[in-house]
Amino acid sequence: MEKKDYLKKEIKHVDIKSFNSIPIIEQFEGTAFQARNLSRAAKIYDKMLSDENCSIILCLAGSLFSAGLKKIVYDMIDNNMVDMIVSTGAIIVDQDFFEALGFKHFQGTPQSDDNELMELMIDRIYDTYIDEEHLRVCDMTISEIADSLEAVPYSSREFIKFMGKYLEEKNKGNESVVRIAYEKKLPIFVPAFSDSSAGFGLVYHQWKLKNKPKVSIDSAKDFLELTKIKVSCKETGLLMIGGGVPKNFAQDVTVAAEILGKEVNMHKYAIQITVADERDGGLSGSTLKEAHSWGKVDEGSEQMVFSEATIALPLLASYAYHKANWKNRKDKKFNNLLDK
Ligand SMILES: NC(=O)c1ccc[n+]([C@@H]2O[C@H](COP(=O)([O-])OP(=O)(O)OC[C@H]3O[C@@H](n4cnc5c(N)ncnc54)[C@H](O)[C@@H]3O)[C@@H](O)[C@H]2O)c1
Repeated sequence: MEKKDYLKKEIKHVDIKSFNSIPIIEQFEGTAFQARNLSRAAKIYDKMLSDENCSIILCLAGSLFSAGLKKIVYDMIDNNMVDMIVSTGAIIVDQDFFEALGFKHFQGTPQSDDNELMELMIDRIYDTYIDEEHLRVCDMTISEIADSLEAVPYSSREFIKFMGKYLEEKNKGNESVVRIAYEKKLPIFVPAFSDSSAGFGLVYHQWKLKNKPKVSIDSAKDFLELTKIKVSCKETGLLMIGGGVPKNFAQDVTVAAEILGKEVNMHKYAIQITVADERDGGLSGSTLKEAHSWGKVDEGSEQMVFSEATIALPLLASYAYHKANWKNRKDKKFNNLLDK
C-alpha cells in the first residue's frame, strides 16, 4: 500500500450544536453507574455556567483533538463556556495548530502493519493516522515563530499567543482553538510545552543559535500567571478532560496563592472525565474528594466520571450548550490582566 491509501478518511469533529443531549442526560439521572455520574457532572457544569462569580478552567489531556473533539472546545470558547485552558502540548500544538496549518488526522485501525506505517512515515494513535512529514512542518513553523521573537524567556501562554497571531496574519485555522483563544484574549497554558511538536521546533531554534540569546519557555511564569488569575477570581470551577499535568497544575493554584499570602477559595466546582483508576495512587485517577484533603477542591459540587472522553464530553457539552445558561456570561479576556 502507498501512503495515500492509508491517509484517505478524515477525522470529522463532533458538532454539539447539531444535536441536543438534554433528554438523554435527564434520563441518565434515573439510572446508575457512569451514566448517573455523567448526568450529575453535566448539571454541575451547567451550574458553573449559571454562577456569575465563577470562572471556568478547562483542562485537557489525552489525544482529544486528533479524535474529533476540537470543535467542541472551539464552540465552548466562542460561546463563553470556558475562561481559560490548561492543556498538554500534544493537543494544542501537534493537533490544533497542526490542523490550523491545513493538515488532517485520518481514520485508521489498530490492526495496521506498524512496520509499514513507520516506513511510510505514518504515525498511529490507536485507530487514527498522522502524516509525520506534516508534523515536521508543524515543528518547523514553531521554530520559525521562535526565530521571529525577541530572544527572552516566555510563558507558554505568551508563546501560544504568538502562534494565534501567526494564524491570524496568515489567515489560517478557521476552527482553531489557538486562533480563537488569541482573538478572544483567552489564556491557554501548556505547562509541559516542550513535550510536544513545540519541543522539536524549540530544540531546532536553540541548536541553530548556539551561544547567542534564544527564546525559552519559563514554566514557573506560567504557574505565576495562572495563580494571578485565580487570585483575581471570586470562585473557580474545573472541567477536566483526562488527567496528567493539566489536572494537577490547575488544582495547585489554590496552594500557590496561599504561598503568596493571598486568601483564595478552593475550586468551588470540579468535574473530571477519565479512564484512570484511583487504586494505584496515581494523579490521573485520584478522586476530587481526595483533592479536598489537599485543600484544592471544595466538597459538594464535584464529580468524577469514569468514561472515555470521546463518548462523555460530547454529551456533557451538548447538554450545557442547549441549556443556554452561557448566554448570560461575558468573555473575561484574562490575557488583558496578564499583559498589562
Ligand atoms: N497523546 C499524544 O498523542 C501525544 C503526542 C505527543 C506528545 N504527547 C505528550 O505526552 C505527554 C503526556 O500526554 P497526556 O497527558 O495526554 O498523557 P496520557 O495520554 O497518559 O493522558 C493522561 C491521563 O488522562 C486520561 N486520559 C487520556 N485519554 C483519555 C480519554 N480519551 N478519555 C478519558 N481519559 C483519558 C488517562 O487517565 C491518562 O492516564 C504530554 O506532555 C503530551 O504533550 C502526547
